[in-house]
Amino acid sequence: MSATDAPSTASADELQYVQYEGDKEELYLPAIRQLISKDLSEPYSIYVYRYFLYQWGNLCYMALDSDKALIGVIVCKLEPHRSGTHRGYIAMLAVRETHRGKGIATKLVSLAIEGMVAGDADEVVLETEVTNTASLKLYERLGFLRSKRLHRYYLNGNTAFRLVLYLKEGTATKRADDAMRAMEGDRVVGDTQMEEGRYDREQFA
Ligand SMILES: CC(C)(COP(=O)(O)OP(=O)(O)OC[C@H]1O[C@@H](n2cnc3c(N)ncnc32)[C@H](O)[C@@H]1OP(=O)(O)O)[C@@H](O)C(=O)NCCC(=O)NCCS
Repeated sequence: MSATDAPSTASADELQYVQYEGDKEELYLPAIRQLISKDLSEPYSIYVYRYFLYQWGNLCYMALDSDKALIGVIVCKLEPHRSGTHRGYIAMLAVRETHRGKGIATKLVSLAIEGMVAGDADEVVLETEVTNTASLKLYERLGFLRSKRLHRYYLNGNTAFRLVLYLKEGTATKRADDAMRAMEGDRVVGDTQMEEGRYDREQFA
């Protein structure tokens, strides 16, 4: 069976959670793209996927069933941010519709956070649509806080929340101090540019 074939009804614990491996791109990337493009409003090109997977494949986790079919996936990155923090970013998360509500996304996000903690991240951020109840519930249960409302953030005109999970004490204060310094000095950056997802999109436009 291929990575995109018909689903089983496995619960979160019956699935296998594996890290993405670059040498298996042909096996997994088509299934990852199919799963993500079905649900996310942003049309990502293959270069966007490769941008994340080539550099941070270790922060991409997949949930596979016993036939190795892809049931869920999370794609992330981790790098120094201009605010002075070492910032983890959750770029994409999707679970096959037939398998939702069983804790699979919770497991994938937890694995990604563990990977970022091991990589010495200060914080983890992401954006999600203000109407995405399942996503908001899942992240807020894991401790994420709403840090900004991004009006008409997505290409479809929908508004997003920026969510943040602080992993180290003092990170929130450090970010605020650095933002003040940036505004006082000559590296004033427009708010639009500061938005991580938009910045990523511009790289591939
Ligand atoms: C968001 C998504 C990844 C969640 O996957 P999942 O495996 O079902 O998530 P989990 O089972 O771990 O947790 C989902 C939580 O949302 C709740 N939930 C699910 N659907 C819901 C709905 N329609 N309304 C309210 N809550 C809902 C679940 O009850 C659960 O919360 P609980 O454990 O406190 O009861 C999945 O719905 C999905 O792939 N959506 C499309 C893509 C997407 O929106 N990705 C996120 C963008 S950042």
